[in-house]
Amino acid sequence: MQVPSSLSLLGILPALACAATLTQITAPFGPNPRNVSFHIYVPDTLPPNPAVLVNPHWCHGTAQAAFQGSQWATLASKHGFIVIYPGSPNAADQCWDVSSKETLTHEGGGDSLGIVSMVRWTLDKYHADSKRVFVTGVSSGGMMTQVLLGSYPDVFAAGAAFAGVPFGCYAPKNNAGQYGYWNAECATGKVTHSAEQWGDLVRAAYPEYNGWRPKVQLFHGTNDEIVSYVNHVEGIKLWADVLGLSETPAQMVQNTPLASWTKSVYGPTGWLEAYSAQGVPHDIKVQENTVMAFFELNCTSNCFHWGKGSPCGGGEPSTTSTTAKSSLTFVTISTKSSSTTPTPSSALVTTSTKSSFTPTSTTSWASSTTSACHATYVPGGQALWAQCGGIGYSGPSACANGACTTYNSWFAQCVPTPACTAR
Ligand SMILES: *[C@@H]1O[C@H](CO)[C@@H](O)[C@H](O)[C@H]1NC(C)=O
Ligand SMILES: *[C@@H]1O[C@H](CO)[C@@H](O)[C@H](O)[C@H]1NC(C)=O
Repeated sequence: MQVPSSLSLLGILPALACAATLTQITAPFGPNPRNVSFHIYVPDTLPPNPAVLVNPHWCHGTAQAAFQGSQWATLASKHGFIVIYPGSPNAADQCWDVSSKETLTHEGGGDSLGIVSMVRWTLDKYHADSKRVFVTGVSSGGMMTQVLLGSYPDVFAAGAAFAGVPFGCYAPKNNAGQYGYWNAECATGKVTHSAEQWGDLVRAAYPEYNGWRPKVQLFHGTNDEIVSYVNHVEGIKLWADVLGLSETPAQMVQNTPLASWTKSVYGPTGWLEAYSAQGVPHDIKVQENTVMAFFELNCTSNCFHWGKGSPCGGGEPSTTSTTAKSSLTFVTISTKSSSTTPTPSSALVTTSTKSSFTPTSTTSWASSTTSACHATYVPGGQALWAQCGGIGYSGPSACANGACTTYNSWFAQCVPTPACTAR
């Protein structure tokens, strides 16, 4: 068991430091205009830079119910990550705010900002890995999952939504936004758009953003009587567009992960996965193992390097647009880190300064990034999927199309550039 070395920490946070239970954080944790409540599960034993999973509950749910109603806390203890259980402040139905202008806007307020503040507080307090922040939820929690992925692509590495709706689907038709709006049109599957229109909603949430877009998993029952299956189809269109992928599956696998469920994989890199659960109603079973694998939360070696595959610039996707935000997020880290860290300070510095990502080959990375983000064709560059870098490789480092994406020291490849293609 990892016990913090500092006794002062014990004095400050005894429950968090010593006992793995669901704990409510009542101290201020950052901007939270809607007063979303904050529960957290921190296992007794954590790796130095643990991942963070956010698990928003369903309508009429609570943080406690979400904590008890899934395997996430058990898996967190087993694999060493932290789980945040936010609680909806909406007394009427405890649904999430997935319809307001604020929640659908980056740093705009609403429930989404309150939840992101919890993430930032947790990254700070536990020196958690800002490149491995994930979100998953069912029903209203699945809707909030898609809201968070759309409004905060810089915060989340990936998300898995069960029986949710596409980002922006719950906003009232006039698009003025409204808090606590139950959009029956959307729920019953009457809101449909083209892929690009859906994608535009996400891009409008954070127009200046040009970086990493999270991986997405969508799960939906074909017999969903509350949130129409149409929303699954529309959600695939939306995320395929945002990620720059074809709406036609590259691969389909029957009876996965359960009998009568079909897994569809979009794009060659598997950035988008959709699971169609034949005959399943709204009460869909959470597939923790499938989500764990997608988030690589059960990975022990040779794992995907989150953030490094980002077509537009590696570990920190939002280098061009985070100036204002970074002061909000990270100033507190450096002031608190020395007194509360259970980890070596060198690890801390890299985390808090966000400088741990170093491209394997600066030259090829820089040139390919530039070409990728402006979606220009580079004559003589490598074809899509061809190698463009890595130890021992001496061929061209530019990509004719796409971005030269470094997967590890030995291998970089030209991959399509979902987020950066000029539109
Ligand atoms: C915020 O919510 C908490 C319960 O989670 C409640 O005790 C508190 O009074 C609320 N504050 C405001 C300003 O509504
Ligand atoms: C992670 O979980 C998936 C699904 O259960 C499994 O297929 C995979 O082998 C696991 N990976 C590791 C490293 O345990």
